[in-house]
Amino acid sequence: MDRLIAEFDRALRAVVGVASAARPSPAEDKPEAELDTRARAHAAALMRVNHVGEVCAQALYQGQALTAGNARIKAALEQAAREEQDHLAWSADRIRELGGRTSLLNPLWYAGSFSIGALAGLLGDRWNVAFLAETERQVEDHLTGHLEALPTDDERTRAVVSAMRADEAKHGATARGLGGEDLPAPVKAAMRFASKIMTTIAYRV
Ligand SMILES: [Fe+2]
Ligand SMILES: [Fe+2]
Repeated sequence: MDRLIAEFDRALRAVVGVASAARPSPAEDKPEAELDTRARAHAAALMRVNHVGEVCAQALYQGQALTAGNARIKAALEQAAREEQDHLAWSADRIRELGGRTSLLNPLWYAGSFSIGALAGLLGDRWNVAFLAETERQVEDHLTGHLEALPTDDERTRAVVSAMRADEAKHGATARGLGGEDLPAPVKAAMRFASKIMTTIAYRV
């Protein structure tokens, strides 16, 4: 029961954007850039997309950990989810600094991702870690794209995105270390398609 309450609390915090970070934000020691209105709005929208990605990561990993059979995999998922909580807090803070807002659809993103995560866990350990490895790889690529798209002088946002990308690379390596193999190409394509829809909507809403 306590576990259930703790999980629910975490879900709620993720959805409303009040997660607290265990590590200080990488933006902390970076200067604030003089951004014009358009650049600021663009950076805020990109960070909203990343925040949604982190809401989805929380939900996926909670779902996957819930149905994972293997204790080592469960522990790795919980560790990754803890680090993703820093990402949640860092990106929410940066959105606020930029004068933006988090996605209104967060409850929906959370519910959808939790179901997908739970399903991956139910498919068995092999699928579960393969799915984790592919998720992290796609998020890493996506963040690389954002580093290209962000204003070059927005050091605070860039520091957050770079640190997140480094963590995602580590999560991916952990998943592959746990035996996460390559997913079939159509599954990878479906995941990319789903995240394309998510990122396009989250940039606006
Ligand atoms: Fe993350
Ligand atoms: Fe990650």
